[in-house]
Amino acid sequence: MTELVTDDAEGALAGKPTHVSRTTLSHIMTAADTNLLGTVHGGVIMKLVDDAAGAVAGRHSGGPAVTASMDEMAFLEPVRVGDLVHVKAQINWTGRSSMEVGVRVMAERWNESTPATQVGSAYLVFAAVDAEGKPRPVPPVIAETERDRRRYQEAQIRRTHRLARRRAIMELRARHAAEGLHDA
Ligand SMILES: CC(C)(COP(=O)(O)OP(=O)(O)OC[C@H]1O[C@@H](n2cnc3c(N)ncnc32)[C@H](O)[C@@H]1OP(=O)(O)O)[C@@H](O)C(=O)NCCC(=O)NCCS
Repeated sequence: MTELVTDDAEGALAGKPTHVSRTTLSHIMTAADTNLLGTVHGGVIMKLVDDAAGAVAGRHSGGPAVTASMDEMAFLEPVRVGDLVHVKAQINWTGRSSMEVGVRVMAERWNESTPATQVGSAYLVFAAVDAEGKPRPVPPVIAETERDRRRYQEAQIRRTHRLARRRAIMELRARHAAEGLHDA
């Protein structure tokens, strides 16, 4: 487990640059990974995405982290048996105890030297948790490049939308309950 470093008298966690936790998970697709159409099952890719993002969240936060949400999982191209898939993940944004991890999925033929193409992308939110499963603080991410800074700003937009959507749905449910409306 990575040691958490504090950098001031209040015990605030020291920031960590994006490159420290950036991770790539690679996997060759076999017949066991296919759906009924013969291409790779989306769930197989989602598992790899969650695994790679979880490794990044664990590395950045220096301990256990759980998937709180996975959104905007996009499948851009089908993945085939014999594709070598690379799942590249990095921290985009950090809050108090949550982190957004951005993931890009690339695929190339395992036995050809043609360039890899992007086949998918996703954004996941992880919450760092303590031994009791309660949220714990995470080190702030330090964006190192212009691309990191753009990703941080985009993640903040997604965070604002997630919170607004969640609040609007909770308010709607509370109104329905107050009016005595119940789902069958
Ligand atoms: C995620 C979890 C720890 C949040 O716990 P909680 O008691 O709701 O705690 P909080 O409301 O303080 O949320 C903690 C942080 O996660 C964020 N968060 C919680 N639910 C979220 C969601 N659905 N989407 C995005 N962010 C979320 C909060 O905004 C908060 O962020 P911040 O501290 O950076 O401001 C809890 O819901 C949990 O354990 N879920 C199960 C996770 C799991 O088992 N995943 C694997 C699936 S098999």
